[in-house]
Amino acid sequence: MLRLMTTDYEKRYQELKETHQLEYEYPPSLKHFLENDVIDHTKIDLSKELQILELGCGAGTLFNDNYENPKVTSIDVSPTALEYAREKTKNKNVIFLQGEWGGDFPYLTENSFDFAIDAHCLHCLIDKEKRVKALEQAYQAIKPGGWLGLEHMVSHSGMEFEPPYQFTGDVLYYAGEPQKFIPHSIEIEEEIKSVGFEIRYLRVFETLKIIPVSGRNTPLRSDPDLLRLLCTKV
Ligand SMILES: C[S@@+](CC[C@H](N)C(=O)[O-])C[C@H]1O[C@@H](n2cnc3c(N)ncnc32)[C@H](O)[C@@H]1O
Repeated sequence: MLRLMTTDYEKRYQELKETHQLEYEYPPSLKHFLENDVIDHTKIDLSKELQILELGCGAGTLFNDNYENPKVTSIDVSPTALEYAREKTKNKNVIFLQGEWGGDFPYLTENSFDFAIDAHCLHCLIDKEKRVKALEQAYQAIKPGGWLGLEHMVSHSGMEFEPPYQFTGDVLYYAGEPQKFIPHSIEIEEEIKSVGFEIRYLRVFETLKIIPVSGRNTPLRSDPDLLRLLCTKV
């Protein structure tokens, strides 16, 4: 199988640190997803003492403010991002662990999380085998009856990118380096079901976008659409 050389996130965070640009701002759409779709479509009560797993937290956590009771385990591949996150996070119920989702994942007790959230990490996993392994790891960690929530970029016919970005075979490249996996929503649906999850909510938003390129803050119609998905371990 063809293995694509993927982005070196640690190197990116180190460069940000060295140039004093390292900061964390949670993605508003993910917070909106958490506080609306997740609440409306699952029985999760974020004011309770839940066990939460945050995947690909980056240099901070979605659970810094207003979440006093859940015990949160936040994982990222980058030690530099995690060092910053530990320094800045006030919520003592959050622990940060280094590990590679879909690869050398930290040891987590099986069936122990009520809710896992993909913090915009899964679309960074380009390799199909890694993606399925990542979903299996999440499935194992979640309790029966627990939930996985994710936001993922999905493709549409009007998608366009300016060079040096190039989109081919569901992968967005920057100057030849793979950046993001942007498939049709049906592919994600199939991956999720293949590891045993039952999908309970899936919606593709044409008007909500995750901007996949750096240096631009205004979304365009030609950006990928946003998929929100909630699935449960039965
Ligand atoms: C798009 S960023 C999102 C970061 C943060 N959650 C946010 O929304 O600002 C993706 C994050 O996933 C991390 N990441 C990428 N691949 C990973 C992997 N296989 N396992 C764990 N973390 C990974 C990167 O280091 C990066 O912090």
